[in-house]
Amino acid sequence: MSSAVKPRVKLLCLAGFMGSGKTTVGRQLAQQLGWRFLDLDERIEERAGAKISEIFERLGEAAFRDLEFEQLNRALTEGAAAAVPTIIALGGGTFAQPRNLEALRATCKPEDAPRDGFVIWLDCPVEQLFARCVTMGNRPLFRDEISFRKLYEERLPFYRMADFRVDGGGEPRAVAERIIALGISADGTGGLQSRNRTEVNA
Ligand code: S3P
Repeated sequence: MSSAVKPRVKLLCLAGFMGSGKTTVGRQLAQQLGWRFLDLDERIEERAGAKISEIFERLGEAAFRDLEFEQLNRALTEGAAAAVPTIIALGGGTFAQPRNLEALRATCKPEDAPRDGFVIWLDCPVEQLFARCVTMGNRPLFRDEISFRKLYEERLPFYRMADFRVDGGGEPRAVAERIIALGISADGTGGLQSRNRTEVNA
């Protein structure tokens, strides 16, 4: 790549535990940047014609994960082909499924092209996540504090594999600003590629 060509960002995926604000922050960020926004859970509900909680109830988690994998692949294909950069809010468990990690890796860094997709982990203390989720219903994997904390601990090693970690605390606009401060501009050009994960994802 010539040094005159600025690196581009085409795809930003927001990962993080339940209650980390992936959807709210994703919408906010898309609005600020003028990018496309896509919510994976919404896509799954549209495809299944049922709410996430009903999918879990009627079909079980394994069937939900299959739908999630299918819709993730569809969203990534769409995102890669779109003229405008895309932000995808993942579900809380999406980034903890090895086959999804593979799909994300393959799209974010195609073999024959420079890296143009990134996964950002919205990191919040588990106490804050619990406090947020306790007031919102309709989360099939939200049962009680003990199981919530256990699942959070199990998933941390996956979230730590994200390209960037951003503090998910505070107002959605402030979180969106932190993401933009990683080096993103509205036309997709930016310095994300020049930073490595260990600098930012400490
Ligand atoms: C899940 C989180 C949910 C949703 C589904 C499974 C999980 O998304 O995808 O209930 O495995 O943690 P949110 O993180 O948006 O609640």
